[in-house]
Amino acid sequence: MNLAEARRALAEAESAALGAIGAAADVAALDAAEREWLGKRSPAVVVTEVIKGLAPAERPQAGQAVGAYRARVGDAVAARRAELADRSPGSGAGIDLTLGGHGRRRGHLHLVTQIRRELEDIFVGLGYRVAEGPEVEDDWHNFEALNIPPAHPARSMQDTIYVALGADGPDELGGGAGAEHMMLRTHTSPVQIRTMETQAPPIYVVAPGRTYRNETLDARHSPAFHQMECLAVDRGLTMADLFGTIEAFARRLFDDDSVRTRFRSDFFPYTEPSAELAVSCVFCRGSGCRVCSHTGWIELGGCGMVDPNVFRAVGIDPEEWQGFAFGFGLERIAMIRYGINEIRTFFDNDLRFLEQY
Ligand code: DAH
Repeated sequence: MNLAEARRALAEAESAALGAIGAAADVAALDAAEREWLGKRSPAVVVTEVIKGLAPAERPQAGQAVGAYRARVGDAVAARRAELADRSPGSGAGIDLTLGGHGRRRGHLHLVTQIRRELEDIFVGLGYRVAEGPEVEDDWHNFEALNIPPAHPARSMQDTIYVALGADGPDELGGGAGAEHMMLRTHTSPVQIRTMETQAPPIYVVAPGRTYRNETLDARHSPAFHQMECLAVDRGLTMADLFGTIEAFARRLFDDDSVRTRFRSDFFPYTEPSAELAVSCVFCRGSGCRVCSHTGWIELGGCGMVDPNVFRAVGIDPEEWQGFAFGFGLERIAMIRYGINEIRTFFDNDLRFLEQY
């Protein structure tokens, strides 16, 4: 064999090899073709043997021809192998469906929403209904009907943002006559009034919602926050019913039957008598710790027996019906429960915080 014959042999072998590789229907057939056209008895090996007998001047050219054959046939094998892998069972066109995706990140309810729903569940379990009222309130519902007349000092503790809707504001916001006194509600207590105006007793409702006050934002105060109000109106209700309800709810909320409640005399214009409501610290069980400021007690909100003036304002006879009410802050409950000391974290919308709950 001379150089020309060696080149021709390699060219013929290459076209035969490429044909066999392209026709290989599966990996086994491709492996066999690779052995035949690149293996120990392949034309390349035969030609390499022949090179030894060629004239020294021709040997490099023959060597290059063998190298080119190996490179092209090797590339063809690799390309075919990739094609066959793409078609193997369980894979689509170049996509391996068995690998799974990158996962879908699902959001979850905000901590305040979780607490609100949990509280609603507790009260629904006690036979209450959930009531709602508008966040933009009129003076009557937010103050006057709650026995807080215009000059009452209780108003200065609950300054808010007043909104000028004009005399033709939407009806459901109380537009018209009292429109100049529209405001962002300072508490959920106006829902007591709205409920009693539209329903006859007996009444058992809780009203969760957003509330507003003219507060300077700091770690514990925010101009926008959430409260939950509770109102019960029935015949023969006494403070014992109020205490028992709060105790039952506090034990369920903190999932601890040893929680004790404390009521200290307080004043709210819409209840008489009124009390400040506290529960024994669920962290130290009353011995004093950082969460309860070493007092052993955690203040939750206010409560009392519905003032007869409130009943009169909504046309309910205070001689026939009695009621109790209480209200507390939802962020505060979450802060106590999870040891959170910054109210701003609730609405900073930093997912690193929110994702923890
Ligand atoms: N509205 C009061 C506040 O925002 C809380 C409150 C006190 C609600 C006594 C009541 C109550 O229903 O009876 O501070």
